[in-house]
Amino acid sequence: MSKIISIHSFRGGTGKSNISANVASQLAQRGNRVGVIDTDIQSPGIHVLFGMDDEQIDKSLNDYLWGRCKIEETVYNVSARVGKGEVIVMGADIFLIPSSIRAGEIARVLREGYDVSLLNEGFRALVSRLNLDYLVIDTHPGLNEETLLSIAISDVLFLILRPDQQDFQGTAVTVDVARKLEVPNLFLIINKALSSYDFDELKQRVEEIYDSPVAAILPLSEDVARMQSSDIFSLRYPDHPVSEAIRRVVDYVEAVGK
Ligand SMILES: Nc1ncnc2c1ncn2[C@@H]1O[C@H](COP(=O)(O)OP(=O)(O)OP(=O)(O)O)[C@@H](O)[C@H]1O
Ligand SMILES: [Mg+2]
Repeated sequence: MSKIISIHSFRGGTGKSNISANVASQLAQRGNRVGVIDTDIQSPGIHVLFGMDDEQIDKSLNDYLWGRCKIEETVYNVSARVGKGEVIVMGADIFLIPSSIRAGEIARVLREGYDVSLLNEGFRALVSRLNLDYLVIDTHPGLNEETLLSIAISDVLFLILRPDQQDFQGTAVTVDVARKLEVPNLFLIINKALSSYDFDELKQRVEEIYDSPVAAILPLSEDVARMQSSDIFSLRYPDHPVSEAIRRVVDYVEAVGK
């Protein structure tokens, strides 16, 4: 059975795109067929982690949402791009559906909007036509129509928060919404935790606050920052604590529905 995984956070810059790209790549490395879709139409970015720029993106999610093409025409097989600099053989294919990075197209979305129900149809069509095991949705921060939709249709929702009071408050709101939408599997991921923190104590505290399991805690890492989203960290540095935490997240994904 295929599964839809949403990676979301109330606030921006929590690490959604980096975590989405790494989780998707690790799933593919374990032999799952994976799609990754960038629904952050206002400020897209995950294509960068897969080494794509504006010139390499012909059709995007925007074209599909405006009825210019079918969703299949916006799919890029990025299996050969992950782990740039070294040849990494993926267990199965990984496909990216990018959003447009062209200023005019982003402005048009903000100005005119689009029919959000088309997103849902697009997700379903991708899963069936690409024969996906997993579709990973990288979202725009906060609560808007498209994030509510992707939360509502997720089999698994990961909410990312930093150990920061603003994130704590926003996450409470999002957890409430996810509960109302009856998301079947909700997990928290704490990112950018200072290495000096007691991770066990932090996990316990956050689980108590939200009454939801913490799938992993990723340390704040100079190595991740230095990579500047230019590659898939967990493939390049598999033994790093951040990569170990990503694999724990993937274990949660694979355990759902078993
Ligand atoms: N564990 C970490 N340690 C250090 N830097 C990190 C870590 N995780 C992510 N980053 C950095 O934080 C920045 C934001 O990451 P990313 O773009 O993945 O977040 P995002 O939640 O998708 O942001 P946005 O809300 O803008 O879409 C990037 O520069 C990334 O390299
Ligand atoms: Mg992002």
